[in-house]
Parts: sequence; C-alpha cells; structure tokens
Amino acid sequence: MAGPLISLESDSFDPWKLQAVSHRLCGHPLLQIESLVALGRRLESRKLVRTHSDTATAGTAFGDAPSLHPNQRSAEETLAGIAEARAWMSLLNVQADPVYRTLVDEVLDAVRPFVDRVDPGMSFRGGWIFVTSPGAVTPFHMDHEHNFILQIRGKKRLYTWDPLDRGIISERAQELFHDQHSREEVRWDESFRARARVFDLEPGMGGYMPSTAPHMVENGDEPSITVSFTYYTAATRRRELLYRGNARMRAHGMSPSPVGQSPLRDNVKAAVLSAYMESRARLLRALGRGVRDNKLDYAPT
Ligand SMILES: [Fe+2]
Repeated sequence: MAGPLISLESDSFDPWKLQAVSHRLCGHPLLQIESLVALGRRLESRKLVRTHSDTATAGTAFGDAPSLHPNQRSAEETLAGIAEARAWMSLLNVQADPVYRTLVDEVLDAVRPFVDRVDPGMSFRGGWIFVTSPGAVTPFHMDHEHNFILQIRGKKRLYTWDPLDRGIISERAQELFHDQHSREEVRWDESFRARARVFDLEPGMGGYMPSTAPHMVENGDEPSITVSFTYYTAATRRRELLYRGNARMRAHGMSPSPVGQSPLRDNVKAAVLSAYMESRARLLRALGRGVRDNKLDYAPT
C-alpha cells in the first residue's frame, strides 16, 4: 500500500530545525518535463519565471544572478532542452496557475496535520519548481517561508544552515531582510561549507528548511527537477514583525536586543508592534492604499 505523500525521517517535527523527508511525488503528471514546458509557457507570459545561466556561483548575489548571468532562451526552449541549456530556471509562485494550485494544495494539505500541531496558522501557501542543467548552482541565499524541498529527477547537493546560527547570517542581516526584503548582508564565504547540513538529494528524497535557513544548491551531472512547497505560519509572521521592529529601533539609534534572547521582551514588543501595524493598515486602507497581507491563504503574485 502507498505511504503518505510526504514522510518525515524522524519521529518529531520541530519547525525551526532542518530535517530530512521522503516523498511519493516523482511520478506526478504535473512534475514531468512535458507538463513543465507548458507551465513555463503560461508563466512566462505572466513574468513568473526566473532564470540565469550555469556560470553563476555560490557567491553570486542571488538577486542579481539573472542580470549578471543571463539566459537568453525562452522558458519553453530552456525547459524542453534543459540537458543542453546550461541554465537554471525557476517557475515562480506556481499556485498562480489554477492547475498547479491543486498540486500545492495536495502537498500542503498532506503536511498540514503535523505542521499545525506545533506551528499553526499556515498562510501564503506557494509552490516553486526548479529545472536545472547539469552542474548549475543556486547561489547562497535565504527566503522568508518555511519550505519542503523535494527532489523529483536527477541529483543535487543541498547545503543548508541553521536559521539561528548568527555566524552565518548576522542579526543585522536578518533585520534588513525582514524590513526591506534586502539580501545585501547575506554574503557567501567558502568557510561556511564546513558548517553546513548537507542533503545529497535523489528522486524521492527531500528536506525541510525553516524560514530564513540559508541554503545553496549544486546540481549533479544530469538535468534536475526539484519542487518547493512553502508557507508562513503565525510564528514566522511574528518573527518578521520582531525583526522589522528591531530594524526601526536601530534606525532611530537604539541597540535592540536580538530576537529570541528574551521571550518576555519579545512578547511585549510583538504585542506593541502588532497593535501598531494593525492600526497603520486600517489607516492605509481608509486612504485607499494597498497593504501587504501575510495572512492570505496563498502568496499573491
Ligand atoms: Fe531559496
């Protein structure tokens, strides 16, 4: 009998710890290359494709990789010929596509029971599909969302780091990331490799990466398909708020205590900040201005 769609490789789930998982998605019809070529065509017309060539390295600034190392081919051409394309391609926010939203729901509904028990409030659900040529590298970076990353085809080495290790990502880098979506202070150093948790991913294997766990990926010597399912929770929203608060305090010349150092102080700060943010959002809406809502069911595009 088939097992669960996603299985944890340990008995317990800690939302702030990296861990290995396994899955049963390799044969899913939506994750075969013919389906992905069609999806790439649909998403490219909506500017939901990100790509760069295989000349990007671990140390390339993540945000600048597409302009520094351009891939000139269309999504359709790249995906259909990925073995020879010398390219890295990500199909972004695939939940924007009605067909692929069903895949995002299928997977995140499957993990939700064990996630909700310890990390409730799932929102901003999303899916990302990475199709990469042999040897292509995903530069070192971090993301806001919790992330189940699953290998579908080919092999890759996923380097990850503890999101709480301030020797890899400083407190200031966390503040800038949450407050301004800036990865300016997220900088690669070759010495980080020795401190990484490495996942040697093959089809059927995967990993869970908590929000802001830095990562870097080296593809193996064949084409690869990898898919990520991502979301926020009440805890990631609260952590973002605390970092934004600390960033603002620092901008006013103060030296805020690091997030997580004092639960009591964090509770007070979170209560004040969330009351402030709610009244600010009410005011902006009254003025007819848009407000980012990170409690939406799906990440918007
Ligand atoms: Fe990422």
